[in-house]
Amino acid sequence: MIYLDNSATTFPKPEKVYKEMIDLYQKYGVNVERGNYKLSLEAHALVQKIRLKINNFFNGYSEECVVFTYNATDALNIAINGVIEENDRVITTVLEHNSVLRPLNHLKKSKRIEVEYLNPSGEKIDTRELKARLDKRTKLVVVNHSSNVTGYTQDLEAIGRCIKENSSAYFLVDASQSAGVIPVDIKKASIDFFVTTGHKALYGPTGIGLLILNPEVKIRPFRVGGSGHSSENPYQPDNFPDRLEAGTLNILGVFGLKAGIEFIEETGIEKIHSKELKLKKLLLENLENKKIKILTSKEDSSPAIVSILHCDYSPADLANILDSEFGIATRAGLHCAPLAHKFLGTFPYGTLRVSIGYFNTEEEILTLSSVLNQL
Ligand SMILES: Cc1ncc(COP(=O)(O)O)c(C=O)c1O
Repeated sequence: MIYLDNSATTFPKPEKVYKEMIDLYQKYGVNVERGNYKLSLEAHALVQKIRLKINNFFNGYSEECVVFTYNATDALNIAINGVIEENDRVITTVLEHNSVLRPLNHLKKSKRIEVEYLNPSGEKIDTRELKARLDKRTKLVVVNHSSNVTGYTQDLEAIGRCIKENSSAYFLVDASQSAGVIPVDIKKASIDFFVTTGHKALYGPTGIGLLILNPEVKIRPFRVGGSGHSSENPYQPDNFPDRLEAGTLNILGVFGLKAGIEFIEETGIEKIHSKELKLKKLLLENLENKKIKILTSKEDSSPAIVSILHCDYSPADLANILDSEFGIATRAGLHCAPLAHKFLGTFPYGTLRVSIGYFNTEEEILTLSSVLNQL
């Protein structure tokens, strides 16, 4: 099989990830923060070291501000529901995933909030337009770092500066498609809530995600329960990460995420990104079929995500042909980003998405282009 659905989840994972998940879970698979025995304390110390590693990887505010979640969707729900109040105003973009759009839509109903959606100008959100829309009621600005449909990638530092210079709104970034392939500096970009999922370009397993926050934010816990300490307190403890982490931690996922990030550090994020971009260029150079239209970022600062349209086949039919006749796995449809497709003019059938990963080869890309040229 030729796997070209890395934006859904990277597959396979680096060998190191599978190995460390087994090794560390065999060695430290006890409940952290729940016991005072030696092994539990050692496991807790290891998890704290991993928080520090993650914090340094993204230049966050401190290891306590690294909150483990189940995935990006979970982290986005925690952040959005934790800060939004009745009658607040939120500015976001049409490029967002349903993991942002749906929590906001539910809040529109239950708390009567107002949500404004910015279109990109070309590939980028225009900070002059953002500035014009910011006002005193704007509580939150939510921006997708890299689109999962086209790879369009935003200039986070310019957006962060614009928000901070012109409002008191919080800045929330969904980096689910960029984290691990495009460097992000949380503090430099003035990000208050940085969200990503563990199982895409960070090479971790499913079931683990990240919310890295600015400790200055005012945020209510979204889910409450056991914290392993302060059990006499009838409410969720106030300190981070415990305010936002309730229940037993997914340490198996934490160990896998650690190994994934180490793989990126050992390989080099630039090397990973440039290999993926090289493969994307190879695909674009070799696609000669006049019936095919390509929608993708023209910039080298974007991940290798290519959306394809064919005059004679729907995206779903094209994906079926690629899979059933040629063993090529891609993804067709709206990719949980309906407003992005409305903006691109590809709603309601969406596109065929080819998402290239570090483990793809030139040979695989040439096979795909030659198959697409025949159709
Ligand atoms: C841009 C973006 N945001 C959020 C998500 C949600 O990630 P998860 O399903 O891991 O919560 C995805 C997943 O495809 C995504 O591409």
